[in-house]
Amino acid sequence: MPKRTALVTGGMGCLGEAIAKALCDAGHAVWVTYFPGFEEPEPWLERVRKEGYNMQAVGVDVSDYDSCRECAEVLATKGVAIDILVNNAGITRDASLGKMSKENWDAVLRTNLDSVFNMTGLLYGGMVERGWGRVVSISSVNGSKGAYGQTNYSAAKAGIVGFTKALALEVARKGVTVNAVSPGYLDTPMVAKVPQDVLDSQVLPQIPLGRLGKPSEIAALVAFMCSEPAAFMTGANVAMNGGQHMY
Ligand SMILES: NC(=O)c1ccc[n+]([C@@H]2O[C@H](COP(=O)([O-])OP(=O)(O)OC[C@H]3O[C@@H](n4cnc5c(N)ncnc54)[C@H](O)[C@@H]3O)[C@@H](O)[C@H]2O)c1
Repeated sequence: MPKRTALVTGGMGCLGEAIAKALCDAGHAVWVTYFPGFEEPEPWLERVRKEGYNMQAVGVDVSDYDSCRECAEVLATKGVAIDILVNNAGITRDASLGKMSKENWDAVLRTNLDSVFNMTGLLYGGMVERGWGRVVSISSVNGSKGAYGQTNYSAAKAGIVGFTKALALEVARKGVTVNAVSPGYLDTPMVAKVPQDVLDSQVLPQIPLGRLGKPSEIAALVAFMCSEPAAFMTGANVAMNGGQHMY
């Protein structure tokens, strides 16, 4: 019998898949969300099932409250009670502030921060009722230290940390922990969008370990935060960034 039931938003993305697999490895039943119109669940599910990961998928646009409510209703109708929520879905739309369109500001804030309100707000009540829950949200090193061209992303990722600390206080006596992880630069397509010369000249020299992180390294930390022994960890924002930013 699975230990707990987890939902990973953006679970078909690079880091999301690693987190979903780590939660499967930890013995949990795992659902991932897919972004309707942008992701096809069946080929992904088939691939990971062949690798031995028997997951399920549900569609949602995390930036849209009504879509999140429908997603929560679909899960409830199927009798699925989510014990572990990993808010992982996110996007970047980089530009310096003078060139930042309102559209790209809104898209990043809605997808990276409103999504955390939407999904957590709809699912944490069940965790509180059952007296056990884990919420882990993926922030970023750039939410802690800022990044040129990322006023939108840095604001959203910093907002996640404030949300995490406030909700951790609200549910501290209810068996529900709320934490954030702030990854540094990972070896993923999101970072592949950064031009190679910028990576070589500006990003890698700032990382004392001299390399990008692996999604599996972040996933192992998330899996720990979702475990029983992590019950005393709440309101934390744990950095994993190769030493790029220490606090
Ligand atoms: N890659 C990195 O170096 C890095 C570093 C720090 C933090 N992060 C954070 O980690 C998380 C995952 O990043 P990744 O590198 O795996 O990116 P990715 O692009 O591979 O995956 C993102 C996932 O989010 C989904 N998504 C985007 N918008 C959505 C929406 N509106 N509704 C539903 N799903 C949506 C995408 O479909 C995709 O599955 C993000 O929150 C990102 O900000 C990444």
